[in-house]
Amino acid sequence: MDLSIGTPVDPVPPVVRAALAEAADAPGYPTTQGTPRLREAAAGWLARRHAVPADPSAVLPVIGTKEFIAALPALLGCGPGDTVVHPELAYPTYDIGARLAGATAVAADGLSALGPRRVALVWVNSPANPTGRVLPAAHLRKMVDWARERGAVIAADECYLDLGWDTEPVSVLHPEVCGGSSRSVLAVHSLSKRSNMAGYRAGFVTGDPALVADLLEIRRHAGMMVPDPVQAAMAAALGDDAHADEQRARYAARRERLRAALAAAGWVTEHSEAGLYLWVTRPGLDCWDSVQRLAEAGILVAPGEFYGPAGRAHVRVALTATDERVDAAVARLAALA
Ligand SMILES: Cc1ncc(COP(=O)(O)O)c(C=O)c1O
Repeated sequence: MDLSIGTPVDPVPPVVRAALAEAADAPGYPTTQGTPRLREAAAGWLARRHAVPADPSAVLPVIGTKEFIAALPALLGCGPGDTVVHPELAYPTYDIGARLAGATAVAADGLSALGPRRVALVWVNSPANPTGRVLPAAHLRKMVDWARERGAVIAADECYLDLGWDTEPVSVLHPEVCGGSSRSVLAVHSLSKRSNMAGYRAGFVTGDPALVADLLEIRRHAGMMVPDPVQAAMAAALGDDAHADEQRARYAARRERLRAALAAAGWVTEHSEAGLYLWVTRPGLDCWDSVQRLAEAGILVAPGEFYGPAGRAHVRVALTATDERVDAAVARLAALA
């Protein structure tokens, strides 16, 4: 039972496949900026589902958000002497992006401890991978204010925004957070998890129109284009909520089953109020002990240390397994209990 990686396993929704097939005759180069239909669908989704008043002309498609996260520091012109800040427990690509640009990555949850360094970019990830933690609007607002005061860009990786369970996650572009202005703010959205489109490589960034215009200029010259059929599939996905609600319900059911089974077997869930993972710990065991104990039962999970030293006591359990595999894992955990 492989619960160690967060790759979707359920079918690509028919509405998405049909749009892809319909757009298959695509002999010309795609537009880097994204088709008007895609940009309007993205802005429409943000307004409809997240109360974010997004401007379609400031939407820019990306070739999956991992690509964009790894490229952003370089695209912003960061280099030696610049600091890129990311959460203490974090998706490793924030660090990779800083390294590729020759900048310095610093893992810090508290921005006030950063001292006088030249901070060029701050990454925030709510709901978070690996912890499932959701930052309240007031906390995000403080981060936005801090970045603006320091002349830094704040980029929010919001790929799990649609997957709030115990709390409703809020976007960095919500007026309560950014004060109704997108200045210095970027929000990054992925279709991989919401719409099972990880294989399509489909995401977008939006926010400060001046920053987005700069990014477009560079990406246009660097050939960072999303294929036309994928743009059509993205527009269809963003315009349809029924498939996303269905997928969400699948994850909710898997989450309940796994959480209860882990609890009965002695693992305590922390955070995990949103997103696609359970962040669990067992008193007396470090992450490697937990990985081994679960592996002996046939269940693979990710050691928390992979995401930073603060994860030493935890393991990350992904909800992205089929119902059949989740049932099997639940049975093995029951035997452990
Ligand atoms: C926090 C976070 N950001 C970004 C990504 C990348 O998603 P994409 O499939 O859009 O590249 C992931 C994928 O798991 C993730 O967990």
